Parts: sequence; C-alpha cells; structure tokens
Amino acid sequence: MNFANWEDARDLAKRRLPKIFFDFIDGAAFSERTAHANMADFDAWIFEQQVLVDVSDRDISTTFLGIKRRMPFMLAPIGFGGLLAPRGEIQAARAAHAVNMPYCLSNFGIISLEQLRAATDGPIWFQLYVLRDRTLSEKLIQRAENIGVEALCITVDSQVKSVRERDTRSGFRNLTKVTPRLALSLMTRPVWCWHAMRAGPLRINNLAEYPEYGANALEQAANLGNLIEAAMTWDDIKRFRDRWKGKLVIKGILNARDAVRCAEIGADAIIVSNHGGRQLDGTHSTISILPEIAAAAGERTDILFDGGIRRGTDIVKAMALGAKGVLLGRAYTYALAAGGEDGVTRLIDLLATEMDVTIGHMGISQVTDLYRRRAEIMRAAGKI
Ligand SMILES: Cc1cc2nc3c(=O)[nH]c(=O)nc-3n(C[C@H](O)[C@H](O)[C@H](O)COP(=O)(O)O)c2cc1C
Repeated sequence: MNFANWEDARDLAKRRLPKIFFDFIDGAAFSERTAHANMADFDAWIFEQQVLVDVSDRDISTTFLGIKRRMPFMLAPIGFGGLLAPRGEIQAARAAHAVNMPYCLSNFGIISLEQLRAATDGPIWFQLYVLRDRTLSEKLIQRAENIGVEALCITVDSQVKSVRERDTRSGFRNLTKVTPRLALSLMTRPVWCWHAMRAGPLRINNLAEYPEYGANALEQAANLGNLIEAAMTWDDIKRFRDRWKGKLVIKGILNARDAVRCAEIGADAIIVSNHGGRQLDGTHSTISILPEIAAAAGERTDILFDGGIRRGTDIVKAMALGAKGVLLGRAYTYALAAGGEDGVTRLIDLLATEMDVTIGHMGISQVTDLYRRRAEIMRAAGKI
C-alpha cells in the first residue's frame, strides 16, 4: 500500500467502497459546516520555522492515561468499521497494535470484544453509549473488564439522533435489510462484495446473544440507536465513575465548563470532540475551542482531541494548543477501506513522518515541548 497522503487514501476508498458506505463515513450533520470547519480551522495557526537548532535526535513519544506512547495518536471508535474491510476492526487494531497504539472499539463495532481480544494483544479501549437498557450496558462493561481493556470511553454527544443528509439521500439512515437499491449499490463494487461474502454474515457481534435486537447489523444498529439514553445526565457519569475501577474517558466535550466537571467527577481523560461534525452542525470546530478547554482543565485531567486530523501538522498544532494525544477518525477509515491493515499501517507511518519532519523544521526535538513553547513556535494566522 503506497498512497502518499490521506487524500489519496480517501480517493482509493471512494473507488473501493459502495457509494452508500463511502457517504456514511465521509458525511456529517446537516450542511456539514462543522465537519468542514474542523479541518479548515487548523489553518488559523501558522508555524514558526526555526533554523540552526540541533534537532538530530527527535522524539514524538508522549504519555497519556499514565502510559508512555511511541506516537501521540490512536484510532477513534468507528461504528460499522467492519463494513470498510473484512473484519475491519481487527485489521485496524492490528495496524495500531504493531506500534503499541490503542485502538478504541465502538459500541457499534461489527467485531465483538472477545473476537478482538483473541485476534490481538495490544491496548484496546471500549467505547460505550449510555443505553436505556441498563442490563445490556452493564453486561458490555463486564465483558470489557473481562478482556482487560485499557480504558472505558463513554460518548456523551449522541443523546439526540442527528440528521445526516447523505444518509437520508442514500437510504442508509433507515435501512434494516438489503433492499433492491442497496443491492444495486453493492453490485457496483464486486470486489468489496466478494470480500464481504467471504467474511460471513454482517452482525454486531457484541449483540450475538441478544436475538431480540435483530438478525443483521442494520437491524441491530437501528435498535441499538433507539436505545441511546436521551435522558442521560451527570448522575449517569458519576454512576459509571463509581462502577468502573479502571481508566475512564469521556468523549464529546466541547466547552470548558463541561471539561472541568468531568475532571471533578474523576474522569482520567476527556476527548474534545464534536463527533467529526456528525452531531451538532454549527457548533465550534474542535481546534478552535481546544485552547480554552486545555487552559481550564488541562491540569486536572488528560486532554485528548479529535476532529479534522488528517495530517501530522494537524497533530502538532493540536498538541501545541494543549492536547496530550489525538484520535484519528475518518483519516484511518479511508486508509482501512483503501488497503485494510496495510493501509492503516501506511497512514500511521505517514503521520508519524509528517510530525517528525514538522517539529524538526520548527527547531523542536521533543513533541512534549510543544505546549510549553507555544508562544515561541506558533502564531495565529491573522497576526502578521
Ligand atoms: C463513520 C464514522 C462512525 C463513527 N462512529 C462512532 C461511534 O460509534 N462512536 C463514537 O463515539 N464516535 C464515532 N464516530 C466519531 C469518531 O470517533 C471521531 O470522533 C470523529 O471521526 C473525529 O473526526 P474526524 O473524522 O474528522 O477525524 C464515528 C465517526 C465516523 C466518521
């Protein structure tokens, strides 16, 4: 797999995936303004080039959740990751685990926790939506505990089901079975169909023992989606904090007040995230709100970040603005669809190289110095 950057991977993904699935990963809420801003707002920051500094020994390793990481990024939870490549979650996790990078399995993953654990022994996080069916939530948490996940990640920005117009147009939104329209869309990508058939029936395997949630992934996702607790409050988060003795991460925080509250409750990390612009269109891009959140809560909890990360330069900017680590979303889904495990490995490699080259030109040897030295190494684009 030899694409040169994420855009090449996206082009390949577009050619390989049935359109209905490409639109599902590429799309976002309503007019997709926030999704667009997530990427565009990185341009609000400009690096300073610094020369004649000894940068012969550069290091992009960092620490979050108390664990030293070779690279400051990891793979975000992606529902239906198994659609993008056969046993897609396992392929992505293996690529991440080859460099000891965490992989976060989505509540809507195709592969079950146990299947993932059997396939790889690297660090796994499990992402949970708070469900109205408390017994099911508890069962999933127990299973996550049993396989020894590194962290439980609760996503809190999805209490209300959003509207994604590409999915409305394609019909993906309300799909519960293979319709003639879906079959037609699949037939345009015979190679994808061949691999999907060989991978076996498409199901959310964490729900295998609950036939009442449906017989296939589409039906299960529709039922599970309807179970997400719209009445969730801070009390639920406190309850999870009391229940879960391991590392707890809250994903979907977009203001300083909520970040401080997470820290007070005892969250080990928060993820500054707007779900890749897939929930509330018109809200802040994540990079524009990150400095405020880092200033308010960065001393009390680990600040992680996602949204719009496509380049190593984006990761460098996020770290200079206060993130201890970042999560890749669409960037790795394109790579996974483009080339499976090899595609994700290639993307990880590209981003690590881009980071290394960038900090070198900035006269920085340690990526962990970025935040401390921000005023000296980066300026707002308007301030010339
Ligand atoms: C296709 C797709 C599915 C996603 N599924 C989930 C999910 O199941 N749970 C979750 O917490 N976030 C989910 N997300 C959000 C990502 O974890 C992440 O926050 C987002 O993709 C980051 O933005 P980016 O794609 O611009 O990098 C999903 C995102 C995409 C693109």
